[in-house]
Amino acid sequence: MSSENISRNVRPLLIAIDGPVGAGKSTISDEVAKRLGILHLDTGAMYRAAGLYVLRQGLNPHDEAAATEAVAQADVSVRYQDGAQRTLLDGEDVTGLIRTPEVAAAASAVSKHPGVRAQLVRAQRALAESTPMLMDGRDIGTVVLKDAPVKVYLTASPEARAERRLKQYREQGEEHTFEEVLEAVNARDYQDMHREADPLRQAEDATVVDSSDLSFEETVEAILGLVRAAMAKEALHV
Ligand code: DC
Repeated sequence: MSSENISRNVRPLLIAIDGPVGAGKSTISDEVAKRLGILHLDTGAMYRAAGLYVLRQGLNPHDEAAATEAVAQADVSVRYQDGAQRTLLDGEDVTGLIRTPEVAAAASAVSKHPGVRAQLVRAQRALAESTPMLMDGRDIGTVVLKDAPVKVYLTASPEARAERRLKQYREQGEEHTFEEVLEAVNARDYQDMHREADPLRQAEDATVVDSSDLSFEETVEAILGLVRAAMAKEALHV
């Protein structure tokens, strides 16, 4: 095979990370992408921007027809500033505005509608077409990047995730009981895993990384180890 053929066969490194809420997907993904020098796309931010759009239109995010029609008019995009994702809605930077409980609830509602998902999946695939990238979400390994050479299902026990969330609340000065937080974690898991459209599930060819008993650094290393193994098997460019 000529060197030209070899270089044509080199695929961009694409990493799919899925998993339940509270497993540390965002922070772990950020760090892994940074160490590899590739972009990190937080796809949840795009569902949040879509949810914000529907709220701003004064519509009910649970109303499938209205929400789907509205989101079709919205321009949800991302750009990178100093390597960090900024999420844009019709050109407006909404990165900070989408981190509220109201927008989270609207995002959860609009993410159930197949028409909304189809639109955002199209945009996500277009972003990954020519750039090496790490994408995190719920359906990346199963739907968005089915051919990704590295697929990770990042999880932790509900108890470990509730414990971490409780710690975050305490740092913010919010008082909650462990039982309350555990119940919320279990409810979110149930919702994510039982919705009809692209529910959260582990892709058959994904590797499970259970961070229950791992430190941040150990979790990052576990994923980097899977990336190195994939790069030893196949030519992937970063
Ligand atoms: O990860 P997050 O909380 O920012 O995600 C916001 C919502 O979007 C959440 O309800 C799950 C949903 N989501 C999804 O359905 N598919 C994705 N790829 C990412 C997020």
